[in-house]
Amino acid sequence: MSQNAPPHAYLTVEQAQRNLRERFKNAAIETYELDARILTGFALGLDDVGLITQASRNVTEEEYDILEKTCLVRLEGKPVSRITGVKEFYSLPFKISSATLDPRPDSECLVESALIIAEKLAKLARKPLRVLDLGTGSGCLLIAFAHACRQKGIQVEGLGVDISSSAIRQARINAALNGIENSVDFKQSNWFENVSGRFDIIISNPPYIASDEIEGLAPEVRFHDPSAALDGGSDGLDAYKHIIAAMTTFIKPGGCVLFEIGSSQAALVTDIVRQSISTHQNVAISCVSDLAGLDRVVQLEFNRNS
Ligand SMILES: C[S@@+](CC[C@H](N)C(=O)[O-])C[C@H]1O[C@@H](n2cnc3c(N)ncnc32)[C@H](O)[C@@H]1O
Repeated sequence: MSQNAPPHAYLTVEQAQRNLRERFKNAAIETYELDARILTGFALGLDDVGLITQASRNVTEEEYDILEKTCLVRLEGKPVSRITGVKEFYSLPFKISSATLDPRPDSECLVESALIIAEKLAKLARKPLRVLDLGTGSGCLLIAFAHACRQKGIQVEGLGVDISSSAIRQARINAALNGIENSVDFKQSNWFENVSGRFDIIISNPPYIASDEIEGLAPEVRFHDPSAALDGGSDGLDAYKHIIAAMTTFIKPGGCVLFEIGSSQAALVTDIVRQSISTHQNVAISCVSDLAGLDRVVQLEFNRNS
Protein backbone atom coordinates (compact mmCIF):
# COMPACT_ATOMS: atom_id res chain seq x y z
CA MET A 1 0.00 0.00 0.00
CA SER A 2 1.50 3.40 -0.97
CA GLN A 3 2.19 5.91 1.79
CA ASN A 4 -0.66 8.25 0.71
CA ALA A 5 -3.33 5.70 -0.17
CA PRO A 6 -6.31 5.77 2.21
CA PRO A 7 -6.42 2.50 4.19
CA HIS A 8 -9.96 1.69 3.09
CA ALA A 9 -9.03 1.63 -0.60
CA TYR A 10 -7.73 -1.91 -0.39
CA LEU A 11 -10.27 -3.41 2.01
CA THR A 12 -13.26 -5.46 0.95
CA VAL A 13 -16.17 -5.98 3.35
CA GLU A 14 -14.86 -9.47 4.06
CA GLN A 15 -11.35 -8.19 4.74
CA ALA A 16 -12.69 -5.44 6.99
CA GLN A 17 -14.54 -8.05 9.04
CA ARG A 18 -11.42 -10.23 9.20
CA ASN A 19 -9.39 -7.22 10.31
CA LEU A 20 -11.77 -6.64 13.23
CA ARG A 21 -11.75 -10.34 14.09
CA GLU A 22 -7.94 -10.38 14.34
CA ARG A 23 -7.80 -7.23 16.45
CA PHE A 24 -10.48 -8.51 18.84
CA LYS A 25 -8.74 -11.89 19.06
CA ASN A 26 -5.41 -10.22 19.85
CA ALA A 27 -7.17 -8.20 22.54
CA ALA A 28 -8.33 -11.53 24.11
CA ILE A 29 -12.02 -10.79 23.51
CA GLU A 30 -13.60 -14.23 23.93
CA THR A 31 -16.42 -13.65 21.46
CA TYR A 32 -14.13 -12.07 18.85
CA GLU A 33 -15.73 -13.83 15.88
CA LEU A 34 -19.33 -12.91 16.79
CA ASP A 35 -18.36 -9.36 17.83
CA ALA A 36 -16.56 -8.76 14.52
CA ARG A 37 -19.56 -9.95 12.51
CA ILE A 38 -22.12 -7.91 14.48
CA LEU A 39 -20.03 -4.73 14.52
CA THR A 40 -19.04 -4.92 10.85
CA GLY A 41 -22.73 -5.31 9.99
CA PHE A 42 -23.66 -2.47 12.35
CA ALA A 43 -21.01 -0.05 11.03
CA LEU A 44 -21.73 -0.81 7.36
CA GLY A 45 -25.52 -1.05 7.78
CA LEU A 46 -25.55 -4.66 6.55
CA ASP A 47 -27.44 -7.66 7.94
CA ASP A 48 -25.96 -11.19 7.90
CA VAL A 49 -27.12 -11.75 4.31
CA GLY A 50 -25.63 -8.40 3.22
CA LEU A 51 -22.29 -9.31 4.80
CA ILE A 52 -22.19 -12.40 2.58
CA THR A 53 -23.60 -10.99 -0.67
CA GLN A 54 -21.46 -7.82 -0.46
CA ALA A 55 -18.35 -9.58 0.90
CA SER A 56 -16.18 -8.75 -2.12
CA ARG A 57 -17.06 -5.06 -2.57
CA ASN A 58 -14.72 -2.39 -1.26
CA VAL A 59 -15.71 -0.38 1.81
CA THR A 60 -16.06 3.37 1.25
CA GLU A 61 -13.89 5.87 3.09
CA GLU A 62 -16.89 6.93 5.19
CA GLU A 63 -17.71 3.31 6.07
CA TYR A 64 -14.09 2.68 6.96
CA ASP A 65 -14.08 5.63 9.37
CA ILE A 66 -17.27 4.43 11.11
CA LEU A 67 -15.92 0.88 11.31
CA GLU A 68 -12.64 2.08 12.78
CA LYS A 69 -14.38 4.18 15.45
CA THR A 70 -16.70 1.27 16.29
CA CYS A 71 -13.75 -1.10 16.56
CA LEU A 72 -11.83 1.23 18.89
CA VAL A 73 -14.83 1.68 21.20
CA ARG A 74 -15.12 -2.13 21.47
CA LEU A 75 -11.38 -2.43 22.15
CA GLU A 76 -11.81 0.11 24.97
CA GLY A 77 -14.21 -2.38 26.62
CA LYS A 78 -17.71 -1.23 25.64
CA PRO A 79 -19.97 -4.28 25.19
CA VAL A 80 -21.29 -4.90 21.66
CA SER A 81 -24.90 -4.41 22.75
CA ARG A 82 -24.06 -1.01 24.31
CA ILE A 83 -22.56 0.03 20.94
CA THR A 84 -25.43 -1.20 18.76
CA GLY A 85 -28.17 -0.52 21.37
CA VAL A 86 -29.69 -3.93 20.65
CA LYS A 87 -29.33 -7.37 22.25
CA GLU A 88 -30.79 -10.67 21.09
CA PHE A 89 -32.51 -12.64 23.85
CA TYR A 90 -34.49 -15.85 23.34
CA SER A 91 -34.02 -15.20 19.58
CA LEU A 92 -35.86 -11.85 19.82
CA PRO A 93 -34.38 -8.33 19.50
CA PHE A 94 -34.38 -6.03 22.56
CA LYS A 95 -33.40 -2.37 22.55
CA ILE A 96 -31.36 -1.52 25.62
CA SER A 97 -30.43 1.78 27.25
CA SER A 98 -28.27 2.99 30.13
CA ALA A 99 -31.27 2.28 32.43
CA THR A 100 -31.55 -1.41 31.53
CA LEU A 101 -29.46 -4.48 32.21
CA ASP A 102 -27.93 -6.07 29.13
CA PRO A 103 -30.10 -9.26 28.86
CA ARG A 104 -27.99 -12.35 29.63
CA PRO A 105 -28.25 -15.74 27.88
CA ASP A 106 -28.27 -17.35 31.40
CA SER A 107 -31.67 -15.77 32.01
CA GLU A 108 -33.22 -17.82 29.19
CA CYS A 109 -33.29 -20.62 31.79
CA LEU A 110 -35.91 -18.64 33.75
CA VAL A 111 -38.07 -18.22 30.64
CA GLU A 112 -37.82 -21.97 29.87
CA SER A 113 -38.77 -22.90 33.45
CA ALA A 114 -41.72 -20.48 33.48
CA LEU A 115 -42.94 -21.94 30.16
CA ILE A 116 -43.01 -25.46 31.60
CA ILE A 117 -45.12 -24.16 34.52
CA ALA A 118 -47.38 -22.18 32.15
CA GLU A 119 -48.09 -25.29 30.08
CA LYS A 120 -49.17 -27.14 33.26
CA LEU A 121 -51.31 -24.27 34.58
CA ALA A 122 -52.92 -23.49 31.20
CA LYS A 123 -54.46 -26.98 31.13
CA LEU A 124 -56.46 -26.10 34.26
CA ALA A 125 -57.13 -22.40 33.58
CA ARG A 126 -60.21 -21.02 31.87
CA LYS A 127 -58.90 -17.44 31.82
CA PRO A 128 -55.59 -16.02 30.48
CA LEU A 129 -52.71 -16.69 32.88
CA ARG A 130 -51.81 -13.59 34.91
CA VAL A 131 -48.04 -13.20 35.01
CA LEU A 132 -46.02 -10.63 36.97
CA ASP A 133 -42.37 -9.76 36.23
CA LEU A 134 -40.67 -7.94 39.13
CA GLY A 135 -37.69 -5.80 38.05
CA THR A 136 -38.52 -6.08 34.35
CA GLY A 137 -35.67 -3.88 32.99
CA SER A 138 -35.75 -4.18 29.19
CA GLY A 139 -38.81 -6.43 29.58
CA CYS A 140 -36.84 -9.30 28.04
CA LEU A 141 -38.11 -12.05 30.39
CA LEU A 142 -41.80 -11.17 30.23
CA ILE A 143 -41.82 -10.37 26.50
CA ALA A 144 -39.92 -13.55 25.55
CA PHE A 145 -42.22 -15.58 27.82
CA ALA A 146 -45.44 -14.02 26.43
CA HIS A 147 -44.15 -14.40 22.86
CA ALA A 148 -43.42 -18.12 23.41
CA CYS A 149 -46.81 -18.60 25.12
CA ARG A 150 -48.56 -17.10 22.10
CA GLN A 151 -46.76 -19.59 19.85
CA LYS A 152 -47.98 -22.41 22.12
CA GLY A 153 -51.56 -21.08 22.12
CA ILE A 154 -51.40 -20.13 25.83
CA GLN A 155 -53.18 -16.86 26.67
CA VAL A 156 -51.29 -14.51 28.94
CA GLU A 157 -51.94 -11.18 30.65
CA GLY A 158 -48.53 -9.91 31.70
CA LEU A 159 -47.49 -7.06 33.96
CA GLY A 160 -43.85 -5.94 34.24
CA VAL A 161 -42.78 -3.51 36.97
CA ASP A 162 -39.53 -1.69 37.65
CA ILE A 163 -38.38 1.05 39.99
CA SER A 164 -36.87 2.87 36.99
CA SER A 165 -39.27 4.84 34.78
CA SER A 166 -36.67 4.82 31.96
CA ALA A 167 -36.57 1.02 32.08
CA ILE A 168 -40.37 0.94 31.87
CA ARG A 169 -40.25 3.15 28.74
CA GLN A 170 -37.69 0.79 27.21
CA ALA A 171 -39.78 -2.30 28.06
CA ARG A 172 -42.81 -0.75 26.31
CA ILE A 173 -40.68 -0.07 23.21
CA ASN A 174 -39.53 -3.70 23.25
CA ALA A 175 -43.06 -5.06 23.64
CA ALA A 176 -44.09 -3.13 20.51
CA LEU A 177 -40.90 -4.14 18.68
CA ASN A 178 -41.79 -7.79 19.26
CA GLY A 179 -45.52 -7.38 18.53
CA ILE A 180 -46.56 -8.41 22.03
CA GLU A 181 -47.90 -5.07 23.35
CA ASN A 182 -51.49 -6.34 23.59
CA SER A 183 -50.52 -9.12 26.04
CA VAL A 184 -48.25 -7.17 28.39
CA ASP A 185 -48.42 -3.94 30.36
CA PHE A 186 -45.66 -2.13 32.26
CA LYS A 187 -45.70 0.23 35.21
CA GLN A 188 -43.28 1.85 37.59
CA SER A 189 -43.34 0.25 41.03
CA ASN A 190 -41.08 -0.40 43.99
CA TRP A 191 -41.51 -4.20 43.88
CA PHE A 192 -45.22 -4.88 44.77
CA GLU A 193 -46.04 -1.28 45.80
CA ASN A 194 -48.25 -0.41 42.76
CA VAL A 195 -49.35 -3.98 42.04
CA SER A 196 -52.79 -5.35 42.81
CA GLY A 197 -54.56 -8.68 42.47
CA ARG A 198 -53.15 -12.19 42.37
CA PHE A 199 -51.03 -13.88 39.72
CA ASP A 200 -50.64 -17.43 38.41
CA ILE A 201 -46.92 -16.92 37.82
CA ILE A 202 -44.47 -14.41 39.30
CA ILE A 203 -41.01 -14.20 37.75
CA SER A 204 -38.08 -12.09 38.88
CA ASN A 205 -34.43 -11.61 38.09
CA PRO A 206 -33.70 -9.11 40.88
CA PRO A 207 -30.35 -7.44 41.59
CA TYR A 208 -28.36 -10.13 43.45
CA ILE A 209 -24.71 -9.06 43.65
CA ALA A 210 -23.40 -8.21 47.13
CA SER A 211 -22.53 -4.49 47.25
CA ASP A 212 -18.83 -5.02 48.00
CA GLU A 213 -18.47 -7.49 45.08
CA ILE A 214 -19.52 -4.93 42.47
CA GLU A 215 -16.07 -3.39 42.28
CA GLY A 216 -14.63 -6.79 41.32
CA LEU A 217 -17.00 -7.33 38.39
CA ALA A 218 -15.70 -7.23 34.81
CA PRO A 219 -15.46 -3.64 33.50
CA GLU A 220 -18.03 -4.49 30.80
CA VAL A 221 -20.57 -5.08 33.59
CA ARG A 222 -19.37 -2.60 36.22
CA PHE A 223 -19.17 0.40 33.90
CA HIS A 224 -22.10 -0.34 31.60
CA ASP A 225 -24.92 -2.09 33.51
CA PRO A 226 -26.96 0.20 35.83
CA SER A 227 -26.12 -0.29 39.51
CA ALA A 228 -29.85 -0.62 40.38
CA ALA A 229 -29.81 -3.78 38.27
CA LEU A 230 -26.80 -5.27 40.06
CA ASP A 231 -26.65 -4.19 43.70
CA GLY A 232 -28.47 -6.63 45.97
CA GLY A 233 -27.35 -5.04 49.26
CA SER A 234 -24.73 -6.18 51.76
CA ASP A 235 -25.30 -9.93 51.23
CA GLY A 236 -26.85 -9.70 47.74
CA LEU A 237 -30.16 -11.00 49.11
CA ASP A 238 -32.11 -7.79 49.90
CA ALA A 239 -34.51 -8.10 46.96
CA TYR A 240 -35.27 -11.79 47.60
CA LYS A 241 -36.05 -11.04 51.28
CA HIS A 242 -38.37 -8.22 50.29
CA ILE A 243 -40.19 -10.11 47.53
CA ILE A 244 -40.50 -13.37 49.50
CA ALA A 245 -41.94 -11.56 52.54
CA ALA A 246 -44.77 -10.13 50.41
CA MET A 247 -45.33 -12.74 47.69
CA THR A 248 -48.08 -14.84 49.31
CA THR A 249 -50.48 -11.89 49.04
CA PHE A 250 -49.94 -11.79 45.28
CA ILE A 251 -49.76 -15.44 44.22
CA LYS A 252 -52.88 -17.50 43.44
CA PRO A 253 -53.34 -20.93 45.06
CA GLY A 254 -51.55 -23.40 42.78
CA GLY A 255 -49.39 -20.59 41.39
CA CYS A 256 -45.64 -20.49 40.99
CA VAL A 257 -42.87 -17.97 41.82
CA LEU A 258 -39.61 -18.27 39.89
CA PHE A 259 -36.44 -16.40 40.81
CA GLU A 260 -33.21 -16.14 38.87
CA ILE A 261 -30.37 -16.54 41.37
CA GLY A 262 -26.59 -16.24 41.46
CA SER A 263 -25.03 -19.70 41.13
CA SER A 264 -24.10 -19.87 44.84
CA GLN A 265 -27.42 -18.58 46.20
CA ALA A 266 -29.82 -21.56 45.90
CA ALA A 267 -29.54 -22.66 49.54
CA LEU A 268 -29.62 -19.08 50.83
CA VAL A 269 -32.77 -18.17 48.89
CA THR A 270 -34.41 -21.49 49.84
CA ASP A 271 -33.71 -20.72 53.53
CA ILE A 272 -35.34 -17.29 53.21
CA VAL A 273 -38.44 -18.98 51.75
CA ARG A 274 -38.58 -21.60 54.53
CA GLN A 275 -38.21 -18.96 57.26
CA SER A 276 -40.80 -16.67 55.71
CA ILE A 277 -43.58 -19.03 54.77
CA SER A 278 -45.92 -20.31 57.46
CA THR A 279 -45.96 -24.09 57.92
CA HIS A 280 -49.54 -24.58 56.71
CA GLN A 281 -48.60 -23.25 53.29
CA ASN A 282 -47.46 -26.19 51.26
CA VAL A 283 -44.77 -25.08 48.79
CA ALA A 284 -42.61 -27.35 46.66
CA ILE A 285 -39.17 -25.74 46.31
CA SER A 286 -36.86 -26.82 43.50
CA CYS A 287 -33.78 -25.54 41.74
CA VAL A 288 -33.14 -25.57 37.97
CA SER A 289 -29.63 -25.51 36.47
CA ASP A 290 -28.64 -23.51 33.41
CA LEU A 291 -26.87 -24.91 30.31
CA ALA A 292 -23.51 -24.59 32.09
CA GLY A 293 -24.83 -26.83 34.90
CA LEU A 294 -24.95 -23.97 37.42
CA ASP A 295 -27.87 -23.37 39.78
CA ARG A 296 -29.84 -20.61 38.07
CA VAL A 297 -33.53 -20.68 39.02
CA VAL A 298 -35.30 -21.27 42.34
CA GLN A 299 -38.89 -22.31 41.74
CA LEU A 300 -41.67 -22.22 44.35
CA GLU A 301 -44.82 -24.16 43.43
CA PHE A 302 -47.70 -23.38 45.77
CA ASN A 303 -50.22 -26.04 46.62
CA ARG A 304 -53.75 -25.49 45.20
CA ASN A 305 -55.22 -25.79 48.71
CA SER A 306 -52.79 -23.46 50.48
C1 LIG B 1 -30.97 -7.86 37.28
S1 LIG B 1 -31.99 -6.60 36.58
C2 LIG B 1 -33.09 -7.61 35.62
C3 LIG B 1 -33.65 -6.94 34.40
C4 LIG B 1 -34.40 -7.89 33.45
N1 LIG B 1 -35.51 -8.51 34.12
C5 LIG B 1 -33.45 -8.95 32.92
O1 LIG B 1 -33.57 -10.10 33.35
O2 LIG B 1 -32.62 -8.62 32.07
C6 LIG B 1 -32.95 -6.11 37.97
C7 LIG B 1 -34.00 -5.05 37.71
O3 LIG B 1 -34.66 -4.77 38.94
C8 LIG B 1 -34.94 -3.39 38.99
N2 LIG B 1 -35.13 -3.00 40.41
C9 LIG B 1 -34.18 -2.76 41.35
N3 LIG B 1 -34.75 -2.44 42.51
C10 LIG B 1 -36.09 -2.46 42.32
C11 LIG B 1 -37.23 -2.20 43.16
N4 LIG B 1 -37.08 -1.84 44.43
N5 LIG B 1 -38.44 -2.35 42.62
C12 LIG B 1 -38.61 -2.70 41.32
N6 LIG B 1 -37.58 -2.95 40.49
C13 LIG B 1 -36.34 -2.84 40.97
C14 LIG B 1 -33.75 -2.73 38.32
O4 LIG B 1 -34.06 -1.42 37.89
C15 LIG B 1 -33.46 -3.73 37.19
O5 LIG B 1 -34.16 -3.36 36.02
